[in-house]
Amino acid sequence: MKSKNIRNFSIIAHIDHGKSTLADRLIETTNTIEKRDISAQVLDNMDLEQERGITIKSHAIRMEYTAKDGITYSFNLIDTPGHVDFAYEVSRALAACEGAILIVDAAQGIEAQTFSNLYKAIEADLDIVPVLNKIDLPAARPEEIGLEVAELLGCEPEDVIKISAKNGIGIEDVLEAVVDQIPAPKGEEKEPVKALIFDSYFDKYRGVVMYVRVMEGTLKRKDVIKFFTHGDKFEIEELGYLRMEREATKELKAGEIGYIIANIKEIHHAKVGDTITTVENGAIEPLDGYQDVKPMVYSGLYPIEGGSYDELKDALGKLSLNDASFVYEPEVSDALGHGFRAGFLGLLHMEIIQERLDREFNCSVISTIPSVKFQVTLKTGKELIINNPDDLPDLSSIDYIKEPFIKATLLTHVDYIGSVMKLCQEKRGIYTTTTYIDDITAELHYELPLAEVVLDFFDKLKSVSSGYASFDYEYIESRQADMVKLDILINGEPVDAFSVIIHREKSYYYGRELTKKLKGLIPKHLFDVAIQAAIGSKIISRTSISARRKDVLAKCYGGDISRKKKLLNKQKEGKKRMKQIGSVDVPQEAFLAVLKIDDQ
Ligand code: GTP
Repeated sequence: MKSKNIRNFSIIAHIDHGKSTLADRLIETTNTIEKRDISAQVLDNMDLEQERGITIKSHAIRMEYTAKDGITYSFNLIDTPGHVDFAYEVSRALAACEGAILIVDAAQGIEAQTFSNLYKAIEADLDIVPVLNKIDLPAARPEEIGLEVAELLGCEPEDVIKISAKNGIGIEDVLEAVVDQIPAPKGEEKEPVKALIFDSYFDKYRGVVMYVRVMEGTLKRKDVIKFFTHGDKFEIEELGYLRMEREATKELKAGEIGYIIANIKEIHHAKVGDTITTVENGAIEPLDGYQDVKPMVYSGLYPIEGGSYDELKDALGKLSLNDASFVYEPEVSDALGHGFRAGFLGLLHMEIIQERLDREFNCSVISTIPSVKFQVTLKTGKELIINNPDDLPDLSSIDYIKEPFIKATLLTHVDYIGSVMKLCQEKRGIYTTTTYIDDITAELHYELPLAEVVLDFFDKLKSVSSGYASFDYEYIESRQADMVKLDILINGEPVDAFSVIIHREKSYYYGRELTKKLKGLIPKHLFDVAIQAAIGSKIISRTSISARRKDVLAKCYGGDISRKKKLLNKQKEGKKRMKQIGSVDVPQEAFLAVLKIDDQ
């Protein structure tokens, strides 16, 4: 295929505005797969994606389209994930394209990620095809929102294509616009090879499969390739195009998108964003902008009663084969036993890993309070990076602590500005600006400590705005803050799984609420149970559960023996779901309750 007949593009949108549905229609209209094989949202092929209706990993597919001008074009569509945690994957997928279809929901209008994805596309120098989706909905306001989109892009309102991806209206117009408005790829087939990895996954039988965009040169089977970030060399076993299945070819030329298999066993060797070249006649410089993605959120993962450490270890190993951004290492907790400390890109990423553990590996886990990375400078001048409260040295040896801050963009209906601002203030946010998109939509800008956002910001935002606010963020820097370690002691024994690194101002309230909550969750024992919150050796809150003599058999005085046995067994079962701290039984819910402490 000549490169002038190739179109490489992506679809960008706020979550749920219909990216995957439009992708399905494009695939269907170009007869890329047989109609009977189409299941809704074919690109979302991970179970979890289909169920939750979100795109987690990016996918790519090649289609052939014969346009009105009679020429057959080859389209490469790259589907991108919509959530902020996967921002880097979006930006790399965009770097593999010349254009993007921007979808806006005709009922919802422009939202936070519409902006952030659009800016990423503009930064990547892409040509934009604006599309208004869901015009079939009774609540759709195509004229009004079409005008907003036109203003945003500086185009004419009639250039905004109005479609219903669900009902198949306007799909041809989108395909024609891709031909007319998105430029063909540039690049020379004879130049030294530069290929961008925009996605990769682990195949049980073939090892790592890399999705690449060849920017310059030609890659062939048997070529020996190397990676710019680590310099390791591999021979290409197979390469080809990405249709619904992989389709092997002899070569991939400048401008083309496809896959490479090269007997690579470690996903960490094929990082998204890295550049591949050939060993012979290779390029000297990599492509721009590689970034090593680092986890932002950490949490301990422990097997729930019944599950074993080895099973969890095995499952984590398999998951990390497929996900280069997920890291973990063993850790031991006094309260929870042997487990792992895991690092995630963000909260959604964390939730997805936990759900995949449960679903794909049948491993249920208790996760400890999410934490961020703190920079700790000791009085000796030594610097430590801490993501686990348990590793924080004694406060007296610390000179200062820095915590990560993010720049947040919140898009909200004007009726909810007050409550969204109040929430940001409670989360120690620093207000910067407000801009009004139109009469009913405001864009608020805040700087927020990430440690506050990882707790329950998303849920809170949804509830204070009745779902009418959306949120996007990027990391800015680490700033000095008055952080302390808050411990919980049960009958004098500190329980590591309950410890948090928290701002001093919030520690008193948090300590009080947590002890109160634990009091409600820990059952009465034969002795008094004291629950205390402490910063260092200073107790800041205390409560106790008074003793109660409980004779479970008293109830069935005179009853028959089998009933007594049943009761005793029931009690034993109950005990199994408890963790023993000293001589106190703490139910598993208690470890989850700490995640749900309300703000002042
Ligand atoms: P993520 O993958 O999570 O980013 O979402 P998405 O943008 O891919 O959205 P998706 O295609 O999953 O669509 C979200 C919801 O909107 C689904 O329930 C679709 O059935 C629905 N939807 C998509 N297009 C249309 C449309 O044209 N009309 C109507 N009424 N519903 C639509």
